[in-house]
Amino acid sequence: MNNLYILGIETSCDETAAAVVKNGTQILSNVVASQIEVHKRYGGVVPEIASRKHVEQITIVIEEAMRQAKLNFSDLSGMAVTQGPGLVGALLIGVEAAKALAFAHSLPLIPVHHIGGHIYANRLVKEMKFPLLALVVSGGHTELVYMKEHGHFKVIGETRDDAAGEAYDKVARVLSMPYPGGPHIDRLAYEGEANIDFPRAWLEEGSFDFSFSGLKSAVINTVHNAEQRGETIKPADLAASFQASVVEVLVEKTVRAVQEYQVNQVILAGGVAANKGLRNHLTKRIDELGNVDLVIPPMNLCTDNAAMIAACGSIFFERGIFADLSLNANPSLDLESFNR
Ligand code: KG4
Ligand code: ZN
Repeated sequence: MNNLYILGIETSCDETAAAVVKNGTQILSNVVASQIEVHKRYGGVVPEIASRKHVEQITIVIEEAMRQAKLNFSDLSGMAVTQGPGLVGALLIGVEAAKALAFAHSLPLIPVHHIGGHIYANRLVKEMKFPLLALVVSGGHTELVYMKEHGHFKVIGETRDDAAGEAYDKVARVLSMPYPGGPHIDRLAYEGEANIDFPRAWLEEGSFDFSFSGLKSAVINTVHNAEQRGETIKPADLAASFQASVVEVLVEKTVRAVQEYQVNQVILAGGVAANKGLRNHLTKRIDELGNVDLVIPPMNLCTDNAAMIAACGSIFFERGIFADLSLNANPSLDLESFNR
């Protein structure tokens, strides 16, 4: 069988990324130009600036990915690109670049869902074992996805308001920490005690959905009330209590889903996978179940990158999921629309 070489492009948020993956599992290059420094001064991602930065970076990043992979465009089997979800102006830059390259080099164009990509980052580390469950937690997403086989996704739970990372970033802002605040809270949490009883949003019985906006408001109210009373709360205790609430809900819902869906493997992905509290607690609880495999890809594959898009695109290539040159970015793309 011929080797499959897929070039992936990802521009859904604030990372301009391109990567080449061989046979769906082997990274030949994985180039990421992060815009975090630019957005930091605004305390969050500014969509207009993100689009402009993608335009500046996209060609350089793609050329660098091809150079590192030591391939010519004529060696490629296909072009995979994040079609959505994400910031529409940002997505468009990647989609247009992919279309131009697909047209110029007569390559099949493969549309990829960003969360499908996050899940397929796993395959660059270890072969997937089905059925599996993925917990994708980032600044933009909090989702539990069940997969019975390659390329088939079922979203069994998602956030009804803020994403987990978004809640971290907002709480960090209240504590006057720089953006993105997740890593700062995580660090601080280890110096404090979880002695403030913040709410856990379990939602209706049996629901795998999440909600973090109530928790975020509870943290903000606690800080403001203390200020009004002239009391001081140790920021480390606040961070530890907030983190305990987020981690408990994420982990317990994942464990319940593992049991209900009888999965063989659990994958943790997205930027919040860096969280020490989440990693430790999830590892402990999954270990207790006995026969379930937990995979946490290295951080550079958990955060936004294009190798994950190429990895997911490789499966779509094999399944014949292609787009023509009328492909458009879709900021609210449905993951299940790719199921065949
Ligand atoms: O996946 P990612 O790099 O970008 C997207 O949002 O797609 O995730 C970034 C998010 C930010 O909200 C950041 O605060 C959060 O991941 N994050 C963390 C940690 N490291 C990054 N949240 C909690 N604990 C961490 N250690
Ligand atoms: Zn992401």
